Amino acid sequence: MLLADHVPPTWRTTIYRAPHETTSVIRDALECVLPDRGNQDSCQPSVDTVALKHPHPQMICGDCFQWLAQRKENSIQAIVTDPPFGLIEYTEQELSKLRNGRGGVWRLPPTIGGCERKPLPRFTVLSRAQLESIRTYFEHWGKLVMRILVPGGHIMIASNPLLAPFLSAGLIAAGLEVRGTIIRLVRTLRGGDRPKLAEKEFSSISVIPRSCYEPWELFRKPLHEKTVAANLRLWKTGGLRRTPDGRPFPDVLKSEFPLPFETKIAPHPTLKPQRFLRQLAWAALPLGEGIILDPFMGSGSTLAAASALGYASIGIELDAEFMTLAEKAVPRLRQIQTEWQGFESNGGSAHMGLTDYLTRTA
Ligand SMILES: C[S@@+](CC[C@H](N)C(=O)[O-])C[C@H]1O[C@@H](n2cnc3c(N)ncnc32)[C@H](O)[C@@H]1O
Repeated sequence: MLLADHVPPTWRTTIYRAPHETTSVIRDALECVLPDRGNQDSCQPSVDTVALKHPHPQMICGDCFQWLAQRKENSIQAIVTDPPFGLIEYTEQELSKLRNGRGGVWRLPPTIGGCERKPLPRFTVLSRAQLESIRTYFEHWGKLVMRILVPGGHIMIASNPLLAPFLSAGLIAAGLEVRGTIIRLVRTLRGGDRPKLAEKEFSSISVIPRSCYEPWELFRKPLHEKTVAANLRLWKTGGLRRTPDGRPFPDVLKSEFPLPFETKIAPHPTLKPQRFLRQLAWAALPLGEGIILDPFMGSGSTLAAASALGYASIGIELDAEFMTLAEKAVPRLRQIQTEWQGFESNGGSAHMGLTDYLTRTA
């Protein structure tokens, strides 16, 4: 397929970086070239096998700090979110540099072998004062979140190995309980470079490690009841939902970059894959009841994941362009059928797939 040029160049990166996705890439490529499947624009995974009820997610354009301050107390059961963790990357100034192809805090990587690579924010440029402002930002945010989450409600929040300590310090100061870290195993292409302008001289050195994971910090609002069981009965929260075949939710999840058709549906610079987000969303509501909030919605990928599982969700997005993108992307992202083998922890044993489970219970 590659040699005959039926696999679009951008999809090759997926094959190289995530060989386990090769079968789905080839299948999608085949669907695009088969004569009765229409053109590439209509190339999407099939959506006809599961007829799920998709609760309509609520999307709000605005500042989540204002929204959180006005939201009713104890009215959200879980938060799954990917915040602007360096704070400056989503300011109007930095976004307009990104949109004009000028970079700024966004590192625009060179094209490799015809493959365009996605921009990455450069967190090593942050000063000590900016790092401290990350801590105070998340302390303020954490205090607002503490009020609206029900007791025992979990927060799953994306971070970055360099910034996670500052984010966590803020949330701890706000009164949230540390419940661990979920490791998204993904080769992020961050780090691993030789010393700048001395690459030959120090050819055997890398300045920081090549990052192979993305930490998702796990926090919980302290329980109100004496036990998890009592909290579950009253508030429907306190624990994490086990996998569909009854195993404990693992804290290492193999992941990949969003697949090419996901990026096409939702071209947000930091889009997260449905396959990964659905595993998080599944676990975040232990009894499958309640609302998942994403206060930093971006393209709405968390809402799409929640909705695909039949969960209610609310998303807030500050940027009007991303808000318009989310309105279009969520209904399409939530229909994606991902063929993962259940919750694959690093051990990699085959579990019952979430898709199988949903098909059976639909
Ligand atoms: C890291 S991105 C989330 C991307 C998302 N995970 C996805 O898959 O599309 C963070 C988003 O938060 C938005 N944002 C930044 N500050 C915000 C605020 N105060 N209130 C609401 N949204 C905000 C940014 O515009 C950006 O789209």
